[in-house]
Amino acid sequence: MLKRLEVERYCGVDDSAKALAKADKNLASLEIPYRLYTGDLLGVLQRLPEHYDVIVASYSFHHMDTRETKERALRECLRVLSPTGIVVVIDVFLRERESREAYLHRWESNARAAFTALNDEEMTTLIDHVWGCDFPESLSTFEGIAARVGYDRVVSLADDGLNRLVALEASISGAELRGFEPPAPASGGRSPGSKARP
Ligand SMILES: C[S@@+](CC[C@H](N)C(=O)[O-])C[C@H]1O[C@@H](n2cnc3c(N)ncnc32)[C@H](O)[C@@H]1O
Repeated sequence: MLKRLEVERYCGVDDSAKALAKADKNLASLEIPYRLYTGDLLGVLQRLPEHYDVIVASYSFHHMDTRETKERALRECLRVLSPTGIVVVIDVFLRERESREAYLHRWESNARAAFTALNDEEMTTLIDHVWGCDFPESLSTFEGIAARVGYDRVVSLADDGLNRLVALEASISGAELRGFEPPAPASGGRSPGSKARP
């Protein structure tokens, strides 16, 4: 995605050092200053000193196991969002009124039909992970959470029945919400080589 866009700088967060090592390798080939932070998303967001025009949360919200955590994460996104910025959430969603269990059965049967390159052991590992770690919401629940935080526009731009791309905007700016001096830079941030800004 970054290859096709004009991006002034990029910041990535994940609690997996392995995932960030891959991101580091991919980003190193682009002419974009970047920083990667290893750690819990909420902890890192709370300490980010900068503001962002676009925040992309790709398949991260469904890993938050309570609505309160999702609300806190959306609040932190708003806090670091620039006044005209948008948050883009790409993730799996429940159907309206679908239970988590029904969703997991649906996800599992989709995966068994689609991921034919996986052997039995790999499939079991994947399915166990999803049953243990996936806590998606329906679009209307997600909209409710976003509204409580202060987002006033939530638009679902793409939907294949399981995955959605949702854009969130707020008329209240992060600056209003912040109302305090930027905190010190988060620890754990890496700025590989000379590519990252100080
Ligand atoms: C389904 S993967 C998505 C990876 C990537 N964002 C993408 O879209 O390809 C979920 C990622 O979320 C990370 N993750 C899960 N919980 C997290 C948390 N609390 N803080 C930071 N990262 C988290 C995992 O390490 C994993 O890399």
